[in-house]
Amino acid sequence: MTLSTMLQSAITKRFGLRPRHDWAKSIEQAISQLADERQLPRARVERDLPDDPNLLRAVAGKLTVEETFFFRFPVQIEQVVDHVAQLLPHRPRAAVTVWSAGCASGEEPYSVAMGLHGRLGALPDNLAIVGCDISAVAIERARRGIFGNWSFRGVSEQIRQLYFESLPADKSRIAAVFRSSVRFEHLAIHEMAHRLGPTSVDVVLFRNVGVYFDEASLARCFKQYHRALAPDGLLVLAATDPTPPPELFKRVRSDSIGIYRRAEQSEVTKSRTKARTVPRPAPDPVGRRDAIRTLRPPPVVEALALGDRGQLSQAIEAADRAVAGHVDDPHGFFVRGQLLLASGQPVAAIEDFRRVLFLRADDRLARYWYIVALHGAREVGRLGPQIAELRRQLAGALEDEILEDGRTSASELRAALITFEGLCE
Ligand SMILES: C[S@@+](CC[C@H](N)C(=O)[O-])C[C@H]1O[C@@H](n2cnc3c(N)ncnc32)[C@H](O)[C@@H]1O
Repeated sequence: MTLSTMLQSAITKRFGLRPRHDWAKSIEQAISQLADERQLPRARVERDLPDDPNLLRAVAGKLTVEETFFFRFPVQIEQVVDHVAQLLPHRPRAAVTVWSAGCASGEEPYSVAMGLHGRLGALPDNLAIVGCDISAVAIERARRGIFGNWSFRGVSEQIRQLYFESLPADKSRIAAVFRSSVRFEHLAIHEMAHRLGPTSVDVVLFRNVGVYFDEASLARCFKQYHRALAPDGLLVLAATDPTPPPELFKRVRSDSIGIYRRAEQSEVTKSRTKARTVPRPAPDPVGRRDAIRTLRPPPVVEALALGDRGQLSQAIEAADRAVAGHVDDPHGFFVRGQLLLASGQPVAAIEDFRRVLFLRADDRLARYWYIVALHGAREVGRLGPQIAELRRQLAGALEDEILEDGRTSASELRAALITFEGLCE
């Protein structure tokens, strides 16, 4: 086994990163950079790497994508602020803790801090915000708190003026109060998880990180988050991220994007016991089935209710019944598409969203979810035209225009779409 292949497998095993086709070359470059930075002969770095976890982390940190910006997907930041603000008065003696797992250069945890400052007028002493990242360069930037224009692409000028000091060359430094209140650790997620006690964290932000992980590491992360989170703690994921196991996390609301609540241990045990011991009910005799049918809500409503409770496979069965009866009704396909996505079946979801768009080409939310499904299925080549079309459809919409579901505003959908920017340009 060559050094490069050995390092690739060690990095995947230890830090969860899914290997990319260009890794061999990137690892070569990372070793050279590391030797330069530490002023060591390259041969010495190569010799020490297999046994030195810090060196291995330093190499892994040079292989990641550190893309981030302030107030990315502001609806989620707002929901985190709501949750934390509501907990703070009830915790006079213990901290309310927010963990940005994979924080890159810090824009995400700083956004939560700014959001809370805006809400409360100050940052209370019993608030702890911590960010960790495997990239040393990113953590160094986060600690310095100096950012260029690119980090501000989701932010109003007002926020920049309020919380940042202008520096030469279009740079801005975040106010000292935030630099001293947000703690940054150069640690991999699983290393940080070991430092945090059980139920000691109130919010985990794990956005745009899981997409780079292999399945085994993702499963490990979700277990660690479940252990670290307090009862009712929130796990926040980007719309394009893999969904967590339903027995560990429940969506807070069926229409919320990427926000999950930690499932109680009793819910976990219940769903496990159910899965193991409860046999599928025998088919009803026809007469009884008809009687039940009249009492049952329409299948699409049942699908939504089951989906809300995290019973995804039953929800999908109900959605199957909904679409079977009404092949020209886009609503059932839309609901089933979302359920399929939530249960990790983006390829099947693609077909449902295509059907909705066939029936209702101007449904902007359906197009958005179609984009999410294409991304989840790694159909990168088909993303570009869909994103362009959705941007075109949103171009004339007012900021607070309410979209097809009667709840989401055009500005929220625009913000959600930013997640995909750069993927296909
Ligand atoms: C695309 S950025 C996301 C930043 C931020 N969460 C956001 O959504 O804007 C992904 C970050 O995750 C970090 N990362 C990847 N694997 C990691 C690991 N195992 N432990 C800690 N950080 C990791 C990368 O270094 C990178 O900075």
